[in-house]
Amino acid sequence: MALLEVKEIHKAFEGNEVLKGVNIIVDKGDVVSVLGPSGSGKTTLLRCINFLESADRGQFVFDGKTYDLSAVTKSEIAGIRKRTGFVFQNYNLFANKTAIQNVTLGLTSARKIPAKEAHEKAMGVLTKVGMAEFADYYPSQLSGGQQQRVAIARALATDPEIIYFDEPTSALDPQLTAEVLEVMRDLAKEGMTMIVVTHELSFAKEVSTHVVFMADGKVVEEGSAAEFFDNPKESRTKEFLRLTEK
Ligand SMILES: Nc1ncnc2c1ncn2[C@@H]1O[C@H](COP(=O)(O)OP(=O)(O)O)[C@@H](O)[C@H]1O
Ligand SMILES: [Mg+2]
Repeated sequence: MALLEVKEIHKAFEGNEVLKGVNIIVDKGDVVSVLGPSGSGKTTLLRCINFLESADRGQFVFDGKTYDLSAVTKSEIAGIRKRTGFVFQNYNLFANKTAIQNVTLGLTSARKIPAKEAHEKAMGVLTKVGMAEFADYYPSQLSGGQQQRVAIARALATDPEIIYFDEPTSALDPQLTAEVLEVMRDLAKEGMTMIVVTHELSFAKEVSTHVVFMADGKVVEEGSAAEFFDNPKESRTKEFLRLTEK
């Protein structure tokens, strides 16, 4: 049984249909990379399945339970969110909180975990992403790569069953990109289930169990990483790979 399944998701903004019936299946331990040109609907897809945006229709199956994406309730959303993590393109850290405060916040407020326990958990995940020594730094005192690693620690702190990443390295220069990808590679090796929207083709090729290529709000092609990169079938895929490959 899949851990997560998205069925026929549709989303329009003021009549502009951005998702035109997208399906995704993620098994436990999968790393699913979502590729595609800018504007193809990748961010909207992640935002809809994290309920930051409400889909017009479609189903969301999580751990065997089916939800209607257009009618999911607030308490259902809260229940699902407790089991998932999200890493944004621009980190979304609180500027007026230190690294460790950013990580503990979701533990002490939403989950009512005692401060001492939250602190220990936060130090554990900050250590995991190589940021323990920066625990008391504010975001403005950290590089983009360091901020993104704190954001990954924040996502990890709640022991999610799946983490969604929306172009986590797109704002970073190559060196900082490498340090963030290293953390993500380690998570993948440990069996973390992830959906990763990315333009990092070599990372996707190396780490993904499955690749989904989107264009114009639809899945154009998908397959195993080897299949997808070594033997793309659709002309749009071939063109995308040719233009994106460095
Ligand atoms: N909140 C919004 N309001 C109106 N249009 C939006 C909104 N969010 C995204 N869009 C549009 O939806 C399309 C897909 O955007 P997006 O999901 O961000 O694509 P991607 O992440 O693949 O670049 C784009 O044309 C974008 O302008
Ligand atoms: Mg995007």
